[in-house]
Amino acid sequence: MYAAPQPQHAESRSPIHGPALPIGLAITALGVLLSLAGASDASTSAAVQPEPLAVLEVPAVDVGATPAVDPCADPAVQQALAAGDDAATVAGFGGGESFRAAVVAGNAPCIALDDPAHSWVVVNKARPLVPMDYAPPVLAPLPMQTTTSANQVRPEVAAAAGELAQAADAAGVGQLGANNGYRSYGLQVATYESYVEDLGQAEADAGSARPGHSEHQTGLALDVVACGGGCGGIDGFGGTPQSDWVAAHGWEHGFIVRYETVGTGVTGYEPEPWHIRYIGVDLAAAYHDGGFHTLEEFFGLPAAPDYPH
Ligand code: DAL
Ligand code: ZN
Repeated sequence: MYAAPQPQHAESRSPIHGPALPIGLAITALGVLLSLAGASDASTSAAVQPEPLAVLEVPAVDVGATPAVDPCADPAVQQALAAGDDAATVAGFGGGESFRAAVVAGNAPCIALDDPAHSWVVVNKARPLVPMDYAPPVLAPLPMQTTTSANQVRPEVAAAAGELAQAADAAGVGQLGANNGYRSYGLQVATYESYVEDLGQAEADAGSARPGHSEHQTGLALDVVACGGGCGGIDGFGGTPQSDWVAAHGWEHGFIVRYETVGTGVTGYEPEPWHIRYIGVDLAAAYHDGGFHTLEEFFGLPAAPDYPH
């Protein structure tokens, strides 16, 4: 855990971080009162040598500065974290962009981007899951047409994916279905090994995460497919009306397209328009509004195009 720096922000999110000005004013007022008391003594009793005024020992206070804002000290943030409520935690920071900015500035010591319990976890080739065989505690079925038996994700992700599919349908772009959602460590072993067998390791690494390095293992990602009667596969998703719509509107439901063409140099994966990652509506809105294309850049993390070993 790093020590939070102490930026001098004008705003205060918590009543426990009141501005310093009243303290400074109080000290100044006290000094004035003491000075006035001394002057009065001198003018009314010129023959009497007044006692020297006691020197008031006070720490120097810069009345132009405010104490550092530490969003993690906000009781609302602490309560939300303790409750495991990621949306409320982000809201407690003041919204998605404030959350992102605090993390990037190193001013969010209570937020760990390697904690797979939270929707802000970043998993990539340089950031394996801890533990490697992590499994989410609760999973729920995806409420849409599914094409594999890996058809579960975390409950909040299932709900958001259902809303995404409904919104796509309402927008007239057709049905969205799901291919793989959660993949266990063991299933990722089988998936990755089958790619290596078929394509060789270099090509496998460009399209399939090694076990312990896949977002599918977090329960926060799913691969979407285009349906209409039957469903297509993931490779046929790009270029469909559903794909274009997901790229443009997924953020409104908390999802980002994790592996875009422009992100390959950062993520080390060929584009996957079908692989969507849930980060929550507030963070996804900040991601969209900020024009980000990788989660690494969003959180100020190094590019991870290759495995360290
Ligand atoms: N296809 C993505 C990179 C995964 O295996 O997680
Ligand atoms: Zn995927």
